[in-house]
Amino acid sequence: MNVLVIGGAGYIGSHVVYELNDAGHRVTILDNFSTGLRENADARATLVEGDMQEIPLLDRLLSGNGDNGSGSGDKFDSVFHFAALKAPGESMEKPGIYTRHNLIATMELIDAMVRHDVRNLVFSSSAATYGNPEYLPIDEDHPQKPINYYGYTKLVIEQTLAWYSRLKNLRYAALRYFNAAGYDVKGRITGKEQNPANLLPIVMEVAGGKRDKMQVFGNDYPTRDGTCIRDYIHVNDLATAHVRAMTYLRDQDRDLNLNLATGTGYTVLEVIREAEKISGKPVSHEITGRRHGDPAELVAASNRAFDHIGWKAVHSDLTQLVESMWNVYK
Ligand code: UFG
Repeated sequence: MNVLVIGGAGYIGSHVVYELNDAGHRVTILDNFSTGLRENADARATLVEGDMQEIPLLDRLLSGNGDNGSGSGDKFDSVFHFAALKAPGESMEKPGIYTRHNLIATMELIDAMVRHDVRNLVFSSSAATYGNPEYLPIDEDHPQKPINYYGYTKLVIEQTLAWYSRLKNLRYAALRYFNAAGYDVKGRITGKEQNPANLLPIVMEVAGGKRDKMQVFGNDYPTRDGTCIRDYIHVNDLATAHVRAMTYLRDQDRDLNLNLATGTGYTVLEVIREAEKISGKPVSHEITGRRHGDPAELVAASNRAFDHIGWKAVHSDLTQLVESMWNVYK
Protein backbone atom coordinates (compact mmCIF):
# COMPACT_ATOMS: atom_id res chain seq x y z
CA MET A 1 0.00 0.00 0.00
CA ASN A 2 0.99 3.63 -0.48
CA VAL A 3 1.01 5.37 2.89
CA LEU A 4 1.63 8.79 4.40
CA VAL A 5 3.16 8.85 7.88
CA ILE A 6 2.84 12.23 9.56
CA GLY A 7 5.46 12.47 12.28
CA GLY A 8 7.37 9.56 10.77
CA ALA A 9 10.69 10.77 12.20
CA GLY A 10 9.39 10.84 15.78
CA TYR A 11 9.82 8.22 18.44
CA ILE A 12 6.87 5.95 17.65
CA GLY A 13 6.44 7.10 14.04
CA SER A 14 9.99 6.14 13.06
CA HIS A 15 9.49 2.60 14.38
CA VAL A 16 6.23 2.29 12.42
CA VAL A 17 7.95 3.52 9.24
CA TYR A 18 10.59 0.78 9.55
CA GLU A 19 7.87 -1.81 10.10
CA LEU A 20 5.92 -0.56 7.06
CA ASN A 21 8.99 -0.63 4.83
CA ASP A 22 9.94 -4.10 6.09
CA ALA A 23 6.46 -5.26 5.07
CA GLY A 24 6.97 -3.87 1.55
CA HIS A 25 4.71 -0.81 1.72
CA ARG A 26 5.55 2.47 -0.01
CA VAL A 27 6.05 5.17 2.61
CA THR A 28 6.14 8.96 2.54
CA ILE A 29 7.10 10.73 5.76
CA LEU A 30 5.82 14.23 6.52
CA ASP A 31 7.73 15.70 9.45
CA ASN A 32 8.64 19.21 10.56
CA PHE A 33 11.49 17.94 12.77
CA SER A 34 10.24 19.89 15.77
CA THR A 35 10.91 16.79 17.87
CA GLY A 36 11.54 14.16 15.20
CA LEU A 37 15.13 13.34 14.25
CA ARG A 38 16.47 13.07 10.72
CA GLU A 39 18.70 10.19 11.71
CA ASN A 40 15.62 8.17 12.73
CA ALA A 41 13.84 8.59 9.39
CA ASP A 42 14.11 5.33 7.44
CA ALA A 43 16.07 6.10 4.24
CA ARG A 44 13.76 3.79 2.28
CA ALA A 45 10.92 6.30 2.74
CA THR A 46 10.36 9.49 0.75
CA LEU A 47 10.85 12.42 3.07
CA VAL A 48 8.78 15.60 2.89
CA GLU A 49 9.89 18.28 5.33
CA GLY A 50 6.96 20.42 6.32
CA ASP A 51 4.28 21.18 8.83
CA MET A 52 0.94 19.38 8.80
CA GLN A 53 -0.67 22.63 9.96
CA GLU A 54 -0.09 24.08 6.47
CA ILE A 55 -3.32 23.10 4.81
CA PRO A 56 -2.11 23.76 1.22
CA LEU A 57 0.72 21.28 1.87
CA LEU A 58 -1.77 18.68 3.12
CA ASP A 59 -3.95 19.32 0.08
CA ARG A 60 -0.99 18.83 -2.25
CA LEU A 61 0.12 15.63 -0.52
CA LEU A 62 -3.35 14.10 -0.37
CA SER A 63 -4.50 15.15 -3.83
CA GLY A 64 -2.67 12.44 -5.76
CA ASN A 65 -2.46 14.74 -8.75
CA GLY A 66 1.00 13.69 -9.81
CA ASP A 67 2.79 16.42 -7.90
CA ASN A 68 2.25 15.47 -4.32
CA GLY A 69 5.86 15.05 -3.24
CA SER A 70 5.52 11.31 -2.62
CA GLY A 71 7.66 10.39 -5.57
CA SER A 72 4.97 8.62 -7.53
CA GLY A 73 2.08 11.03 -7.30
CA ASP A 74 -0.22 8.11 -6.52
CA LYS A 75 -2.96 8.68 -4.01
CA PHE A 76 -2.31 7.41 -0.52
CA ASP A 77 -4.31 4.39 0.64
CA SER A 78 -3.78 5.20 4.32
CA VAL A 79 -2.52 7.90 6.62
CA PHE A 80 -0.82 7.48 10.01
CA HIS A 81 -0.83 10.46 12.37
CA PHE A 82 1.88 10.69 15.04
CA ALA A 83 2.53 14.43 14.98
CA ALA A 84 1.04 15.47 18.29
CA LEU A 85 2.11 16.77 21.67
CA LYS A 86 2.07 14.15 24.40
CA ALA A 87 2.93 15.47 27.84
CA PRO A 88 -0.11 15.36 30.13
CA GLY A 89 1.47 17.73 32.70
CA GLU A 90 2.36 20.33 30.08
CA SER A 91 -1.15 20.17 28.62
CA MET A 92 -2.56 21.40 31.93
CA GLU A 93 -0.22 24.40 31.90
CA LYS A 94 -0.44 25.25 28.21
CA PRO A 95 -3.76 23.98 26.86
CA GLY A 96 -3.59 26.39 23.92
CA ILE A 97 -0.74 24.58 22.17
CA TYR A 98 -2.56 21.28 22.66
CA THR A 99 -5.67 22.85 21.16
CA ARG A 100 -3.74 23.87 18.06
CA HIS A 101 -1.55 20.81 17.56
CA ASN A 102 -3.73 17.98 18.80
CA LEU A 103 -7.23 19.24 18.04
CA ILE A 104 -7.31 21.81 15.24
CA ALA A 105 -4.48 20.34 13.14
CA THR A 106 -5.91 16.83 13.42
CA MET A 107 -9.44 17.94 12.56
CA GLU A 108 -8.07 19.75 9.50
CA LEU A 109 -6.22 16.58 8.52
CA ILE A 110 -9.38 14.48 8.83
CA ASP A 111 -11.33 16.95 6.74
CA ALA A 112 -8.57 17.17 4.11
CA MET A 113 -8.50 13.37 3.85
CA VAL A 114 -12.22 13.31 3.14
CA ARG A 115 -11.85 16.18 0.65
CA HIS A 116 -9.34 14.10 -1.31
CA ASP A 117 -11.06 10.77 -0.82
CA VAL A 118 -8.24 9.25 1.25
CA ARG A 119 -10.31 7.17 3.63
CA ASN A 120 -8.15 5.21 6.07
CA LEU A 121 -6.55 6.78 9.13
CA VAL A 122 -4.54 5.07 11.85
CA PHE A 123 -4.65 7.45 14.80
CA SER A 124 -2.43 7.53 17.90
CA SER A 125 -4.81 7.67 20.83
CA SER A 126 -3.94 7.09 24.44
CA ALA A 127 -4.70 5.42 27.72
CA ALA A 128 -5.04 8.99 28.92
CA THR A 129 -8.55 9.04 27.40
CA TYR A 130 -9.74 6.78 30.24
CA GLY A 131 -8.72 8.92 33.21
CA ASN A 132 -8.74 7.31 36.64
CA PRO A 133 -9.45 3.60 36.33
CA GLU A 134 -12.83 2.45 37.65
CA TYR A 135 -11.69 -1.18 37.34
CA LEU A 136 -8.57 -3.06 36.25
CA PRO A 137 -7.48 -4.20 33.79
CA ILE A 138 -8.93 -1.41 31.67
CA ASP A 139 -10.76 -2.69 28.58
CA GLU A 140 -12.05 -0.68 25.64
CA ASP A 141 -15.52 -0.39 27.17
CA HIS A 142 -14.15 1.35 30.26
CA PRO A 143 -15.66 4.87 30.60
CA GLN A 144 -13.52 7.54 28.94
CA LYS A 145 -13.22 10.43 31.41
CA PRO A 146 -9.81 12.06 30.90
CA ILE A 147 -8.28 13.89 33.84
CA ASN A 148 -5.84 15.98 31.81
CA TYR A 149 -6.26 18.18 28.74
CA TYR A 150 -3.95 15.96 26.67
CA GLY A 151 -6.26 12.98 27.22
CA TYR A 152 -9.24 15.19 26.42
CA THR A 153 -7.71 16.14 23.03
CA LYS A 154 -7.25 12.47 22.15
CA LEU A 155 -10.82 11.65 23.17
CA VAL A 156 -12.27 14.51 21.12
CA ILE A 157 -10.42 13.24 18.05
CA GLU A 158 -11.73 9.71 18.64
CA GLN A 159 -15.25 11.16 18.75
CA THR A 160 -14.62 13.26 15.64
CA LEU A 161 -13.44 10.16 13.82
CA ALA A 162 -16.60 8.30 14.82
CA TRP A 163 -18.69 11.14 13.33
CA TYR A 164 -16.68 11.21 10.10
CA SER A 165 -17.02 7.46 9.87
CA ARG A 166 -20.81 7.82 9.97
CA LEU A 167 -21.06 10.95 7.87
CA LYS A 168 -18.27 10.54 5.34
CA ASN A 169 -17.33 6.87 5.36
CA LEU A 170 -13.87 7.53 6.75
CA ARG A 171 -12.39 4.36 8.27
CA TYR A 172 -10.21 4.75 11.33
CA ALA A 173 -8.24 2.80 13.89
CA ALA A 174 -7.85 4.61 17.23
CA LEU A 175 -4.97 2.86 18.98
CA ARG A 176 -4.89 3.59 22.70
CA TYR A 177 -1.30 3.21 23.76
CA PHE A 178 -0.40 2.54 27.35
CA ASN A 179 3.21 3.38 28.30
CA ALA A 180 5.30 3.24 25.14
CA ALA A 181 8.97 2.40 25.73
CA GLY A 182 11.94 0.53 24.24
CA TYR A 183 13.91 0.97 21.02
CA ASP A 184 14.06 -1.03 17.80
CA VAL A 185 15.17 -4.55 18.72
CA LYS A 186 17.17 -4.67 15.47
CA GLY A 187 19.10 -1.60 16.59
CA ARG A 188 18.26 0.53 13.54
CA ILE A 189 16.84 3.51 15.44
CA THR A 190 19.30 5.18 17.76
CA GLY A 191 18.42 8.88 17.94
CA LYS A 192 17.36 9.65 21.50
CA GLU A 193 14.38 11.77 22.48
CA GLN A 194 15.48 15.20 23.65
CA ASN A 195 14.33 16.40 27.10
CA PRO A 196 12.29 13.30 27.85
CA ALA A 197 9.55 13.50 30.48
CA ASN A 198 8.81 9.76 30.68
CA LEU A 199 10.16 7.34 33.22
CA LEU A 200 12.24 4.98 31.09
CA PRO A 201 14.30 7.52 29.14
CA ILE A 202 14.94 9.40 32.39
CA VAL A 203 16.11 6.20 34.10
CA MET A 204 18.38 5.56 31.10
CA GLU A 205 19.85 9.06 31.26
CA VAL A 206 20.76 8.49 34.92
CA ALA A 207 22.25 5.06 34.21
CA GLY A 208 24.16 6.50 31.26
CA GLY A 209 25.55 9.38 33.32
CA LYS A 210 23.72 12.20 31.55
CA ARG A 211 21.80 13.04 34.77
CA ASP A 212 23.07 12.69 38.31
CA LYS A 213 19.84 11.45 39.77
CA MET A 214 16.11 11.24 39.28
CA GLN A 215 12.98 11.67 41.31
CA VAL A 216 10.47 8.97 42.12
CA PHE A 217 7.10 10.66 42.37
CA GLY A 218 5.61 9.15 45.51
CA ASN A 219 6.02 5.86 47.38
CA ASP A 220 2.79 5.93 49.34
CA TYR A 221 0.46 4.50 46.69
CA PRO A 222 -1.55 1.36 47.47
CA THR A 223 0.74 -0.84 45.34
CA ARG A 224 3.23 -3.63 46.18
CA ASP A 225 6.13 -1.22 46.87
CA GLY A 226 4.21 2.05 47.13
CA THR A 227 5.24 3.37 43.68
CA CYS A 228 2.94 3.62 40.65
CA ILE A 229 2.31 0.66 38.38
CA ARG A 230 2.25 1.10 34.61
CA ASP A 231 1.77 -1.20 31.62
CA TYR A 232 4.88 -0.68 29.48
CA ILE A 233 4.58 -1.62 25.84
CA HIS A 234 7.53 -2.01 23.49
CA VAL A 235 7.53 0.35 20.55
CA ASN A 236 8.20 -2.54 18.11
CA ASP A 237 5.02 -4.18 19.39
CA LEU A 238 3.19 -0.91 18.83
CA ALA A 239 4.58 -0.77 15.30
CA THR A 240 3.32 -4.26 14.45
CA ALA A 241 -0.14 -3.33 15.68
CA HIS A 242 -0.21 -0.25 13.43
CA VAL A 243 0.56 -2.18 10.29
CA ARG A 244 -2.06 -4.80 11.14
CA ALA A 245 -4.64 -2.14 11.92
CA MET A 246 -4.02 -0.55 8.51
CA THR A 247 -4.56 -3.88 6.77
CA TYR A 248 -7.73 -4.47 8.81
CA LEU A 249 -9.21 -1.15 7.71
CA ARG A 250 -8.60 -2.03 4.10
CA ASP A 251 -9.81 -5.62 4.25
CA GLN A 252 -12.68 -5.35 6.76
CA ASP A 253 -13.87 -1.83 6.00
CA ARG A 254 -14.71 -1.37 9.70
CA ASP A 255 -13.39 0.95 12.40
CA LEU A 256 -11.25 -0.10 15.35
CA ASN A 257 -10.79 1.20 18.89
CA LEU A 258 -8.06 -0.87 20.52
CA ASN A 259 -5.96 -0.86 23.65
CA LEU A 260 -2.31 -1.64 23.02
CA ALA A 261 -0.90 -2.99 26.27
CA THR A 262 0.41 -6.17 27.85
CA GLY A 263 -1.85 -6.67 30.87
CA THR A 264 1.23 -6.75 33.14
CA GLY A 265 2.31 -3.78 35.18
CA TYR A 266 5.62 -2.83 36.79
CA THR A 267 6.28 -0.37 39.58
CA VAL A 268 8.65 2.57 39.22
CA LEU A 269 11.13 0.89 41.57
CA GLU A 270 10.97 -2.38 39.61
CA VAL A 271 11.87 -0.44 36.46
CA ILE A 272 14.78 1.25 38.23
CA ARG A 273 16.06 -2.07 39.60
CA GLU A 274 15.86 -3.75 36.21
CA ALA A 275 17.78 -0.86 34.65
CA GLU A 276 20.49 -1.17 37.32
CA LYS A 277 20.75 -4.90 36.66
CA ILE A 278 21.00 -4.58 32.89
CA SER A 279 23.28 -1.55 32.79
CA GLY A 280 25.42 -2.57 35.75
CA LYS A 281 25.22 1.09 36.84
CA PRO A 282 23.51 2.62 39.84
CA VAL A 283 20.36 4.65 39.14
CA SER A 284 20.48 7.23 41.87
CA HIS A 285 17.00 8.37 42.89
CA GLU A 286 15.17 10.21 45.62
CA ILE A 287 11.57 9.78 46.68
CA THR A 288 9.63 13.01 46.34
CA GLY A 289 5.95 13.91 46.58
CA ARG A 290 3.32 12.54 44.23
CA ARG A 291 3.04 14.05 40.78
CA HIS A 292 -0.36 15.63 40.22
CA GLY A 293 -2.72 13.47 38.18
CA ASP A 294 -0.86 10.13 38.45
CA PRO A 295 -3.23 7.18 39.00
CA ALA A 296 -1.75 4.47 41.26
CA GLU A 297 -2.10 1.72 38.67
CA LEU A 298 -2.80 1.53 34.94
CA VAL A 299 -2.89 -1.86 33.27
CA ALA A 300 -5.00 -2.87 30.33
CA ALA A 301 -6.53 -5.84 28.60
CA SER A 302 -5.70 -6.14 24.90
CA ASN A 303 -7.97 -9.07 24.07
CA ARG A 304 -9.78 -7.00 21.50
CA ALA A 305 -6.54 -6.37 19.60
CA PHE A 306 -5.91 -10.11 19.62
CA ASP A 307 -9.43 -10.90 18.39
CA HIS A 308 -9.48 -8.29 15.61
CA ILE A 309 -5.91 -8.03 14.35
CA GLY A 310 -4.29 -11.12 15.91
CA TRP A 311 -1.95 -8.94 17.94
CA LYS A 312 -0.28 -9.42 21.24
CA ALA A 313 2.91 -8.00 22.67
CA VAL A 314 6.01 -10.16 22.15
CA HIS A 315 8.87 -7.76 23.00
CA SER A 316 7.40 -6.09 26.07
CA ASP A 317 8.69 -8.00 29.07
CA LEU A 318 10.65 -5.65 31.28
CA THR A 319 14.03 -7.18 30.44
CA GLN A 320 13.62 -6.75 26.67
CA LEU A 321 12.24 -3.26 27.11
CA VAL A 322 15.15 -2.09 29.21
CA GLU A 323 17.80 -3.95 27.18
CA SER A 324 16.63 -2.40 23.93
CA MET A 325 16.82 1.05 25.54
CA TRP A 326 20.18 0.49 27.16
CA ASN A 327 21.60 -0.49 23.75
CA VAL A 328 20.82 3.07 22.67
CA TYR A 329 21.70 4.92 25.89
CA LYS A 330 24.85 3.11 27.01
N1 UFG B 1 7.90 8.83 37.11
C1 UFG B 1 8.77 9.08 38.14
N2 UFG B 1 9.83 9.91 37.89
C2 UFG B 1 10.04 10.50 36.69
C3 UFG B 1 9.13 10.24 35.64
C4 UFG B 1 8.06 9.40 35.89
O1 UFG B 1 8.62 8.58 39.26
O2 UFG B 1 11.00 11.26 36.54
C5 UFG B 1 6.75 7.93 37.37
C6 UFG B 1 5.42 8.61 37.19
O3 UFG B 1 5.02 9.27 38.38
C7 UFG B 1 4.52 7.43 36.82
C8 UFG B 1 5.46 6.49 36.05
O4 UFG B 1 6.78 6.90 36.41
O5 UFG B 1 4.11 6.78 37.98
C9 UFG B 1 5.31 6.62 34.55
O6 UFG B 1 5.38 7.99 34.20
P1 UFG B 1 5.52 8.50 32.71
O7 UFG B 1 5.62 9.99 32.77
O8 UFG B 1 6.59 7.77 32.02
O9 UFG B 1 4.17 8.02 32.03
P2 UFG B 1 2.65 8.31 32.38
O10 UFG B 1 2.07 7.02 32.87
O11 UFG B 1 2.47 9.50 33.24
O12 UFG B 1 2.07 8.71 30.96
C10 UFG B 1 2.41 7.98 29.79
C11 UFG B 1 2.45 8.92 28.61
C12 UFG B 1 1.07 9.46 28.34
C13 UFG B 1 0.10 8.33 28.23
C14 UFG B 1 0.17 7.42 29.41
C15 UFG B 1 -0.72 6.25 29.21
O13 UFG B 1 3.36 9.97 28.84
O14 UFG B 1 1.10 10.21 27.14
O15 UFG B 1 1.49 6.97 29.59
O16 UFG B 1 -0.61 5.31 30.24
F1 UFG B 1 -1.16 8.82 28.13
